Amino acid sequence: MRSFTDRVSEIDISGIRKMFEAAGTDSINLGLGEPDVPTPAHVCDAAMDAIREGHTRYTPGAGIIELRSALSEKFLRDNNISVSPDEIMVTSGASEALHISLQALVEPGDDVLVPDPGFVSYTALSRIAGGRAVSVPLSNLRLDPDIVAEQITRNTKVLIVNSPSNPCGTVQSRKEIQALAELAEDHDFTIISDEVYEFFIYKGEHVSPAEFTDNVVTVNAASKTYAMTGWRLGYLAARPEYIEQFHKVHQYVQACANSVAQIAALAAITGPQERVAEMRDMFKKRRDILLSGLREMGVECMTPAGAFYVFPRVGDGDRTAANMAERGVITVPGSAFGTYGAEHVRMSYATGEAEIVRALDRMHEGF
Ligand SMILES: Cc1ncc(COP(=O)(O)O)c(C=O)c1O
Repeated sequence: MRSFTDRVSEIDISGIRKMFEAAGTDSINLGLGEPDVPTPAHVCDAAMDAIREGHTRYTPGAGIIELRSALSEKFLRDNNISVSPDEIMVTSGASEALHISLQALVEPGDDVLVPDPGFVSYTALSRIAGGRAVSVPLSNLRLDPDIVAEQITRNTKVLIVNSPSNPCGTVQSRKEIQALAELAEDHDFTIISDEVYEFFIYKGEHVSPAEFTDNVVTVNAASKTYAMTGWRLGYLAARPEYIEQFHKVHQYVQACANSVAQIAALAAITGPQERVAEMRDMFKKRRDILLSGLREMGVECMTPAGAFYVFPRVGDGDRTAANMAERGVITVPGSAFGTYGAEHVRMSYATGEAEIVRALDRMHEGF
């Protein structure tokens, strides 16, 4: 019998994947966590030019300087954060940025505070790093600084903040973000701020903890904003002492992010941004259709202010997701996102409007 490490073998495969695997072929997929639109044409053109022009070799580990300079401007413009290109690393998706941050920051005995319910990777990656993922129960689907404060101990090394959030669609307020940043200062831990949904906000504003503290790694990606999930292009910003350590992990697991995807991301970030606003308006319209359909069926659902998920409270999320799957609608049981998500299911509205309407038709009596 082969023996594998506990920190890997104890991880369950993502509940999201399980749902896909159980689905019938004519199912309507409300399980997806990615925009259903293509990558903008000018971004694809830049990538094709890059291939023809021979940008097919390793790049500097941190990423091409043109992209890091563009990201430095982006952080100032969009996030009110002043970071030099040397304080930015380009990674293979936000996923790699989360992984290298946790690898460099967490060791056995360290706690990582993760929002519960929260994005599936946080707990898994904390464990892979050898740490303990400590659930912070959300309050009305929000990360409440007072509840975070109650969970802080001498072992707390990292707090993960994700606004707008997956799976809840919550947008944390400026006051909440500032209070979380103050906790990081007072107790000397690091916030990993996952901001991949920053441009999909329908109410409220996006606020980065890095406005208030240097104890922070800001993680983002081209994935959701520019419909580039398959390109695997993310990035992080942090103070030089972080970057110095992160480089070591990135160097040996990845060497550099994909060279062509870096040029594509440069075109995306420096090019026209209208598509992003169009996507946001499109998602908002779909959100409203899905929400009113659910409410007409008597389903209890808070209005998500961001991202592209609704997270209705249905009682037994596992049973509801299974019922939905039988009716040909794929959703994700809330338990996939943590113990405190068990009464919910997640439905993505990054799916066509007509599909959402058809899915609502099929959902009757599924609750
Ligand atoms: C909150 C959150 N962070 C990170 C990711 C992963 O992003 P990427 O595809 O850039 O690795 C996702 C993907 O669903 C996500 O929802």
